Amino acid sequence: MSASDTPRDEGHDTPRRDYTEAELAEMSRDEKMRLGLALDGVELLHYEDPFPVENTRAEKRAERAVAAWFALAGLSAIAFIAVFVFWPWGYVTPQQGGREYFLYNLYTPLVGLFLGLSIFAIGVGVVLYAKKLIPHEVAIQQRHDGHGSEEVDRQTTTAILADTGVRSGFARRSMIQRTLAFSGAVLGLGTGVIAIGGFIRNPWATEGPDSLKHTAWMKEGDEKVYLRRDTGDPHDVSLLRPEDIDAGGFETVFPFRESDREDEHKLVSVLRRSDAPVMLIRLRPGSAPIKRKGQEDFNYGDYYAYSKVCTHVGCPTSLFEQQTGRLLCPCHQSQFDVVNTYAKPVFGPATRSLPQLPITVDEEGYFVARHDFIEPVGPAYWERNS
Ligand code: FES
Repeated sequence: MSASDTPRDEGHDTPRRDYTEAELAEMSRDEKMRLGLALDGVELLHYEDPFPVENTRAEKRAERAVAAWFALAGLSAIAFIAVFVFWPWGYVTPQQGGREYFLYNLYTPLVGLFLGLSIFAIGVGVVLYAKKLIPHEVAIQQRHDGHGSEEVDRQTTTAILADTGVRSGFARRSMIQRTLAFSGAVLGLGTGVIAIGGFIRNPWATEGPDSLKHTAWMKEGDEKVYLRRDTGDPHDVSLLRPEDIDAGGFETVFPFRESDREDEHKLVSVLRRSDAPVMLIRLRPGSAPIKRKGQEDFNYGDYYAYSKVCTHVGCPTSLFEQQTGRLLCPCHQSQFDVVNTYAKPVFGPATRSLPQLPITVDEEGYFVARHDFIEPVGPAYWERNS
């Protein structure tokens, strides 16, 4: 049976009558597909298989071209993951120069290049497949009122979809299947790496860049760790004394060691370390904030030093409101009370107090850190209460 044998409903272009299950079972996929089109009022003007004879050299050539793009997408995704995870990305100053600086500068371009190339190659592969291997079809459909699907509609629609799948030849093109699966899987993995790559850290590491237990304020031996301002010039080291801050005032400070002067990289990079900025606040005389258990001696008189990194998601808590004695984070409006408590969050999404840096003043009258923070700074993930 073909569409031309099918009677049409009165008043409709669409041929329609009841089809028995036996009739439908007898029809081939092609007949059902064409019947389905006819029932929907679709006229198939042109339906040409690009390769009517299977496995010709031309078809194999087209298939290889598509597979090559999918393979390229997969390889690019692997390169993207490798660069994202293994390429040296730590900041290197221009003054340091050399190979490290060269490699550091390539990190972002390479990440973008390989991810972009992978997505681009998958796109080209899909377009090539559609252009070269899927039957070229021209069809016209008249708009008509919709109604609920009948059995014949369901079966003929299934046949149309199945026909598209079979005619596209995807099921028998194993090379394309494999390369597409390869590229899709690796690219999917790559997207996962973007999301979790930055968190591949060992929260229990006590040394090295993976350590969350230490910050830029960690003491090394007996060397003092001073509190310095960032004057905009890393070579201009400006240390702080108590008299430099008025009552009710504050200053953003960074760590400085005398040995940093001999190490250009440290001198510059410590001003950029995300765990380095600290708010040094001088409370008004008479303020008596509740102190945190075990940290009762972390302040120096009216001077209190708190990590500037918000415990919500890490923005700088750069606003100190003298009237209320609160540190404000501009990102999501968390507020930390430093006048009445130990920088406990009293408003907004942050749930953890700002870590306090223990400070004192040395014999020459400069502020120094007594030791590192005793808890990790920054957003509250991992074991932030340790
Ligand atoms: S980062 Fe500070 S409130 Fe969200």
